[in-house]
Amino acid sequence: MAVLTGKIAWVTGAGSGIGQAAAVALAKEGATVVLTGRRKEPLEETAATIKAAGGKAVVKAGDLMKAASVTKIAAAIEKQFGRCDILVNNAGLNILERSWKQLSAAGAEQVIDGNLSSAFYCTSAVLPIMRKKKDGVLIHTSSMAGRQASLLSGPAYSAAKHGVVAMSHTINMEECVNGIRSCVVCPGEVATPILDKRPVPVTKEERGRMAQSEDVGDLIRYIACLPAHIVINEVMINPTWNRGYVANLQRGKS
Ligand SMILES: NC(=O)c1ccc[n+]([C@@H]2O[C@H](COP(=O)([O-])OP(=O)(O)OC[C@H]3O[C@@H](n4cnc5c(N)ncnc54)[C@H](OP(=O)(O)O)[C@@H]3O)[C@@H](O)[C@H]2O)c1
Repeated sequence: MAVLTGKIAWVTGAGSGIGQAAAVALAKEGATVVLTGRRKEPLEETAATIKAAGGKAVVKAGDLMKAASVTKIAAAIEKQFGRCDILVNNAGLNILERSWKQLSAAGAEQVIDGNLSSAFYCTSAVLPIMRKKKDGVLIHTSSMAGRQASLLSGPAYSAAKHGVVAMSHTINMEECVNGIRSCVVCPGEVATPILDKRPVPVTKEERGRMAQSEDVGDLIRYIACLPAHIVINEVMINPTWNRGYVANLQRGKS
């Protein structure tokens, strides 16, 4: 039997990129996946891919920046399945205006709400469901920018992703006595649609050298399959051809 048979996994940002790959990987491992994002169409496409491979998927669209819609989705999951074993807290976004010179209050609000507040809302919504079972795994997609502030990612994104790292560690500090485990995943560059929001366009060749969605999706699957008595608190995943390192090497030569 697959390791996650009978488990319910809520994956946010499941219509594209890392979230889509994680949903597919978790479904292959036997989980029933609940797919959330704002746009219904890409979620339906993910669900169709999962079902075509013999897996189970349910679409629950919504804007995670709105606490009320998060509460509604979590309540619907509990009503339908009576449990939520895994949360892949992955939805996130960035904006084109990333320097302090360009950043507006509205832009900062969007990035902080879209990466940090939304992650808090989802966590707060699933913890009571997990506590009842004395079991649960939360996997949050932060970023390398959540460990080292990055001008490429911008001040609001760096700050929000640092917040996601801190959030995850506090969950373990408090919820370990309830059998609940939290892991924060910090990826470097992954070739996903979020790169289309970069101020400097990223070429096809550069995307080909980056980590791919499936690489991170498989890591998330691995974390979700760990035995209940252990937790990987934090993990970084990067492309071997790390553009930051390569730029440093080139600077060193000049
Ligand atoms: N790609 C990278 O290089 C990289 C590196 C480090 C970390 N990350 C993080 O990885 C996560 C996944 O991103 P990705 O790279 O896979 O990019 P992506 O393909 O753009 O995925 C982001 C997903 O989040 C959803 N989303 C965004 N805001 C939402 C909201 N308010 N409510 C509900 N869903 C929302 C989007 O769907 P809708 O637009 O339909 O809502 C989209 O499917 C993000 O947290 C990102 O910050 C990415």
